[in-house]
Amino acid sequence: MQEKSTVLTSAFEQEVYDGLTAQPKFLSSKYFYDEIGDKLFQDIMAMPEYYLTDCEFHILEYHKERIAEIFTNSNKPFSLFELGAGDGKKTKILLRHFSEKDIDFDYSPIDISQNALDQLETAVTKELPSVEINTIQGTYFDTLADIGKSSNKRKVILFLGSNIGNLLHPQAISFLKNMQEVLNEDDLIFMGFDQKKNPQAILDAYNDKTGITEAFNKNILARINKEMDGNFDLDKFIHWEVYDPETGTAKSYLVSKEKQAIRISGLDLEVNFKAWETIHTEISQKYDDDVVAWLANEAGLKITHHFSDENKFYKNYIFKKKIG
Ligand code: AVJ
Repeated sequence: MQEKSTVLTSAFEQEVYDGLTAQPKFLSSKYFYDEIGDKLFQDIMAMPEYYLTDCEFHILEYHKERIAEIFTNSNKPFSLFELGAGDGKKTKILLRHFSEKDIDFDYSPIDISQNALDQLETAVTKELPSVEINTIQGTYFDTLADIGKSSNKRKVILFLGSNIGNLLHPQAISFLKNMQEVLNEDDLIFMGFDQKKNPQAILDAYNDKTGITEAFNKNILARINKEMDGNFDLDKFIHWEVYDPETGTAKSYLVSKEKQAIRISGLDLEVNFKAWETIHTEISQKYDDDVVAWLANEAGLKITHHFSDENKFYKNYIFKKKIG
């Protein structure tokens, strides 16, 4: 065992150190996303196997008029916040519809990636010049406080893409509670939840034959190599996906094909792998109506509406604060 003498300066470094010295090993999927990871995720969203994006796209397209009615609550202005906005491809369906209908709203996309926000701002300004956009860079947690303090208009918080699925239920509840605390009685949350379905469809979505998801999962090792001077050989790991249809939890792993020792100079750390030892990297939780209702209730929220695609592969729910 190596002594830790290096000062760990970033959360990423701290988490890599903790995760790779733990038993069993783990790393957090939030570190998949650098410029290359953002691009790989866009490629995933374009894959036929990754049904989530298409489903949500169609839900928004098909229900945009009803959604506009609910958000404006008979023509009242509102402020739209979006957590983890990314490239805003799906959100633009709503933004375009709202601006065509001359709806009075402003849009504040929030993302950890300044790069993603800059691109989104450029695109929205060009394609939808009448939309008032104010980007906010930061983590969900830090920025929720700002949302709370903001305008006196109705707040609508968007959280699309089943991003909630990266959280285990207890974490999801505390995240929803944090949101609940910044809501006023009239405010809304609009959120996407991927649904339980034929397990094979889920495995296919997270284990495409073209290897894009594999590259995405392994990008966390590539980042450690680049940013912490590591020497992972990506070919010595396989991408492995499991789905438990009972709990609805899909899990991603990187599995070491052989016994090997990895050196991460930036952390002054040597990591030993036995043959077939795992690193757990991501969970992508799948839901049903009962589980969503339970999560909402635990967080002090109630479901007021929901929208689904025709196959019921994916659902968007609207939550309000539970009063009393
Ligand atoms: C962005 C977290 C919703 O879990 O479905 C896609 C990320 N991982 N393929 C998901 C992801 C592998 C995605 N989320």
